[in-house]
Amino acid sequence: MNEGKKTDWWKNAVIYQIYPRSFKDSNGDGIGDLNGIIQKLDYLENLGIDAVWLSPVFKSPQDDNGYDISDYQDIDPIFGNLDDMERLIQEAKKHNIRIIMDLVLNHSSDEHRWFIEAKKSKDNPYHNYYIWRDGEEGVLPNNMKAGFGGSAWEWVPELKQYYFHQFSVKQPDLNWENPKVREELYTMINWWIDKGVGGFRLDVIDQIAKEPDKNIKENGPRLHEFIKEMSSKTFQRGDIVTVGEAWGATPEIARMFSNPDGSELSMVFQFEHIILDRQEGKEKWDLAPLSFIKLKKVLSYWQQELFQRGWNSLFWDNHDLPRVVSYWGNDTEYRVQSAKMLAVLLHGMQGTPYIYQGEELGMTNAAYEIEDYRDIETLNMYKERKGAGYSESDIMDSIHAISRDNARTPMQWDSSANAGFTHGKPWIKVNPNYKKINAADQIDNPDSIFTCYKTLIALRKKYNIFVDGQFELLLPDDNTFFAYKRQNQNEKLYVICNFYDETAICKLDKDWEKMELLYCNYKEISKDKINIYKPYEARVYYCHI
Ligand code: GLC
Ligand code: CA
Repeated sequence: MNEGKKTDWWKNAVIYQIYPRSFKDSNGDGIGDLNGIIQKLDYLENLGIDAVWLSPVFKSPQDDNGYDISDYQDIDPIFGNLDDMERLIQEAKKHNIRIIMDLVLNHSSDEHRWFIEAKKSKDNPYHNYYIWRDGEEGVLPNNMKAGFGGSAWEWVPELKQYYFHQFSVKQPDLNWENPKVREELYTMINWWIDKGVGGFRLDVIDQIAKEPDKNIKENGPRLHEFIKEMSSKTFQRGDIVTVGEAWGATPEIARMFSNPDGSELSMVFQFEHIILDRQEGKEKWDLAPLSFIKLKKVLSYWQQELFQRGWNSLFWDNHDLPRVVSYWGNDTEYRVQSAKMLAVLLHGMQGTPYIYQGEELGMTNAAYEIEDYRDIETLNMYKERKGAGYSESDIMDSIHAISRDNARTPMQWDSSANAGFTHGKPWIKVNPNYKKINAADQIDNPDSIFTCYKTLIALRKKYNIFVDGQFELLLPDDNTFFAYKRQNQNEKLYVICNFYDETAICKLDKDWEKMELLYCNYKEISKDKINIYKPYEARVYYCHI
């Protein structure tokens, strides 16, 4: 157990997300596993990260790649077993890495013991662990939609009732109104804390307090009451980090979640900078052009709004999102430069940075044929849109741009068969660019994206200003540069990034010569033309006050 005083270690930590099925396969079945992760702990220590967030490895029918849990206290055999998990926690500790588990508390799998019982009869003690409405077949309780398409209600003829599911039909929502459900979950969380985990990522946590009759999914009225209760009964026992996934978070809501008094969570993932391509009333697949000015606005206002009143998480990528170098960067001619620029931009801000596996290599989106996709969300959408008459090329454009499988292709370790990910047949195709983009090529290369990430992580540990400096956006209306300043009592830091692929002049005039250049993604800056920035050039200047 970790009992003891909270240290907020996560404020100067960098966290690395592993999507286990795509990280490293140790036994040749084509699926990444816990022993594969253990084999790569040296790699992670070398990068310098402090903790690993593991996407779910619990027992699961894998309808949504583990986000459908059938036993919270066991490991799915495709990943290993509980002994492997304990070994991973212990081995990681030796590398100074903490393990963060991904808790899916909004819903379970329909193959969880609780749901199997719940479905037996209305009087079953577990019935009320889920959300049911009496009804008639074909007459839905209301028109709420599920995250992966179709209605949020599923008919169970034996009971003449519908159950509520915000995601797939195999992910029935848990009923948080039932105190027994909450107690069961807290007991389970404490069991993991006692095993020495370093924290938890909480899947769609802002959806647990749903009120289906009122059409409320996110931010239900009892949400923060539930979080406070859970936190005091579990998280506050240990020196652990907690990060909630909160698609519906505004800064005001995020300040409640990440209140410095520690009554709720350490921080949340907010998505305002991620959903800039979403249009009101349309689906995520209906792409809209990205606005650079909006990106600057959104990121900087989150920096300001949470300053000393909450805590930000910093991320570009995760297992649900496209690869950032393909999205905001340039994944062809300037892949290396733009990937580094995006890294600099994010790691200079206040908050806890998250690196998603392969981001540190500049891995890119994949552009497969539909047969090669595996993601339930992508496949459901493909069928739906085909049925609705969309053209194949329209559908595939959306998939190539933002399908979740873009981030789920196997980690590219080296240039051997299957990128060194597996000796077997990978569960999803390896991105064919692995011969050019892989870890083996980058680890010892001073000019690689990997080394850039490693350097940024080390800088964050060396200078306090990364943790506590106040943020100020510079050149807010400039269409080319993303520039900002950080400042605390003794130090100043400037981060200046040319966001585009043309050489440009930065209009910020400061005594750059007198400052220390902590980092630049190009080897040389010409002294007499210090304000000229090459394509995607990014610099970090530092000085004492
Ligand atoms: C979260 C996860 C996503 C999953 C969904 C349902 O958004 O990140 O991968 O499909 O929740 O659990
Ligand atoms: Ca395996």
